[in-house]
Amino acid sequence: MNWDRWTAQAWEVRERAYAPYSGFAVGAVVVADDERSFVGCNVENLSYSLTQCAERVALGAAVAAGVRKLVAVVVVADTREPISPCGACRQVLAEFGDPEVLLVGREGFERFRLGELLPRASTGILDRS
Ligand code: THU
Repeated sequence: MNWDRWTAQAWEVRERAYAPYSGFAVGAVVVADDERSFVGCNVENLSYSLTQCAERVALGAAVAAGVRKLVAVVVVADTREPISPCGACRQVLAEFGDPEVLLVGREGFERFRLGELLPRASTGILDRS
């Protein structure tokens, strides 16, 4: 697991965030089971609710490249404490596995499994028998 490289990629892509409405830039990296990594930044819109979070932009790039299983996600923002993915992003990421999620802020980081952030995402649906 190459956390330092993925975190550097996330800070880099954060610089390209399009966030004129909130002024809040986010960078994300998703990592596939073959260790390919894909970057995303938030893309805001005048019609605010159409904003795309950094995590889902990165995920879209990964899926378009053929990825079906994630092993890691990194999210960075210039906040004292790390931010964490919104509920919608948790759900969308959970479609592609139970990656480790590294959340990075200015003064530290935290690491979770996605399943800790969104318990029971597929129980009773994908696991039906
Ligand atoms: N945002 C993300 O891109 N990812 C997160 O995990 C939290 C929030 C974006 C959405 C919006 O453009 C801005 O941050 C403020 O919420």
